[in-house]
Amino acid sequence: METKMFKTATTDLAAAAELIKKGQVVAFPTETVYGLGADATKESAVKKVFAAKNRPSDNPLIVTVANVDMVKRFVSEIPTIAEKLIANFWPGSLTIIMRYNEGALSPIVTGGLPTVAFRLPASDVTRQLIALADTPIVGPSANTSGKPSPTTAQHVWHDMQGKIAGIVDDGATSVGVESTVIDITTDVPTILRPGAVTQEALEAVIGPVNSEHRKVGADETPKAPGMKYRHYAPDVPVYMVTPEAWPAAIIWAQQQLEPVGIMAPDEVIEANHLAGMDFVWSLGTDVTTANAKLFAGLRYFDERDGVETILVHHFANEGVGLAYNNRLGKASSGQYFDADM
Ligand code: TXA
Ligand code: MG
Repeated sequence: METKMFKTATTDLAAAAELIKKGQVVAFPTETVYGLGADATKESAVKKVFAAKNRPSDNPLIVTVANVDMVKRFVSEIPTIAEKLIANFWPGSLTIIMRYNEGALSPIVTGGLPTVAFRLPASDVTRQLIALADTPIVGPSANTSGKPSPTTAQHVWHDMQGKIAGIVDDGATSVGVESTVIDITTDVPTILRPGAVTQEALEAVIGPVNSEHRKVGADETPKAPGMKYRHYAPDVPVYMVTPEAWPAAIIWAQQQLEPVGIMAPDEVIEANHLAGMDFVWSLGTDVTTANAKLFAGLRYFDERDGVETILVHHFANEGVGLAYNNRLGKASSGQYFDADM
């Protein structure tokens, strides 16, 4: 299949929307990461998304909408908690899991669950595309299953070229990690995946919120089915490096025969005289820029010949650092750098 590239002019978006209407798969930008779009009401189109990603069929998809009315096509009454979340965080990087009307969605979309995940992205381009297609679209991240989510159209091209009908290119995404996922069907609302919308921000609007985003073993049944799969993982080992461990980690890196990729914030790069060196990937000034640059850096070193190990800065476990450490924890299988390794 020839994969067409589109820009964000209205004529381009209209052509991409036409492909979606015809039951094809088109990758689209959001403010978090790129998604794989297909008409959520057409089973044959949704099946193509699972095939392109090589995604296990028990892992449900997000339904991405352009406005709240599109949610009402599947849900007769929006719960009060959802209304509060929508009023405060939509459009934005929050995915809300709620119950839907029986039979309103194909079990292929929901993995057979009685609940469905809805997302109304902040990106204007996403909302324009969905409005032009005039149908809610499924929107899993546009990577091959298990690989880091794509934050540029080139990442999508790398994974999906020849497998999908088109890609809408809107440059690098701004947030860089996927949306916060909250399940409001539990007694206490539960965060299943941390993201840019923090627990503190959610609690300020709806009161106490639990979080359940530890790694789940393959034999357990996780709340978010996607959590049991290895994620964001380059082919070479990734180690987390705590701020105080950098000096030892850099000495270790210099002693290795094969190059070691180093991903660190500017402060660490400067303090250790690494500025301008090869095999160094800047995570920018802070944890917010690090979220935007994390997946691109992992993909960069994964593609570079010779790199045998990747060392990545670990940030404090607070605020949007929780989202960062959650993704990095999966990429590294929880391994920290240790001078004796
Ligand atoms: O930022 C994002 O959310 C991106 C952009 C493209 O919108 N999309 C995204 O989709 O990350 P995906 O499919 O890669 O991740 C959705 C997560 C998966 O872990 C999935 O298991 C979980 O949400 N999920 C979806 N529906 C669910 C449901 N009904 N109950 C529990 N978890 C659900
Ligand atoms: Mg994903």
